[in-house]
Amino acid sequence: MRLKDKVAIITGAGLGMGREASVLFAQEGAKVVVFDLNEAAAQETAAIIEKNGGKALVVAGNVAKEADVKRCVEEAVAKFGKLDILYANAGVLWKDRDKSVIETTEENWDIVQAINLKGPFFLTKHGIPELQKAGGGSIILVGSISALAGFSLAQDSYTCAKGALISLNKSLAVQFGPDNIRCNIIHPGMVDTALQAPYLTPEKKKAIGDSLPMKRLGVARDIANAALFLASDESCWMTGAEMIIDGGFIAT
Ligand SMILES: NC(=O)c1ccc[n+]([C@@H]2O[C@H](COP(=O)([O-])OP(=O)(O)OC[C@H]3O[C@@H](n4cnc5c(N)ncnc54)[C@H](O)[C@@H]3O)[C@@H](O)[C@H]2O)c1
Repeated sequence: MRLKDKVAIITGAGLGMGREASVLFAQEGAKVVVFDLNEAAAQETAAIIEKNGGKALVVAGNVAKEADVKRCVEEAVAKFGKLDILYANAGVLWKDRDKSVIETTEENWDIVQAINLKGPFFLTKHGIPELQKAGGGSIILVGSISALAGFSLAQDSYTCAKGALISLNKSLAVQFGPDNIRCNIIHPGMVDTALQAPYLTPEKKKAIGDSLPMKRLGVARDIANAALFLASDESCWMTGAEMIIDGGFIAT
């Protein structure tokens, strides 16, 4: 019960790493606010949590819309009385639209920024005052190995949004450390979720997995385990840090 009595908002909690973390956090005692654009997926996550005996609240909304994120924070506090953990997990990787700067339209650039960068801005803007009221808390941002290395198949808006989160991570850590609020960022490598599914044939998955030191793609649990550590008091002296969880990709 590493998150006993904690209340967490997890964005993008309907699928992938967000669902995995929601279920894991609830197993560890947290009450989980499952926020997602895909309400049916969010309901499924909540049903898994409740079947396991945990507590969940579904809030449907878009992280790129400030009013939706503000409502999520308000509903979380109204239902569970406080807020301790903000996990800004929702993100999109649209390789068909988000390409190199010389190919991307302004519209596509902006929407990718709105989801991947403004989403965490809105969550922390409205969530941090609640963490302050609770006497502290943990913020988890999600970057990417895309922000740490150049790739010949570019997704420049995604890369820039994830890179900007590295700066936000340090800024929030420094600003709010004195309030006992920590902020850390996880950089996943290639993880086998719905986000990557449109771009990965079984052959491609195997080839990429084989190219990594750990000889496989990541699974959602690999990232959720790290998020659990960052959410829990076990990481209580860790802030402004970056965790690369990539099967060794960046080391090669
Ligand atoms: N999968 C990877 O290989 C990989 C690698 C590096 C970083 N990441 C990052 O990890 C995070 C989670 O990725 P994943 O692979 O679990 O993704 P996923 O596509 O499997 O799940 C993402 C969830 O976010 C929700 N979502 C999307 N846009 C939203 C919005 N505007 N508002 C609210 N919810 C929204 C989706 O409905 C979905 O439930 C993302 O930030 C992603 O950029 C993923």
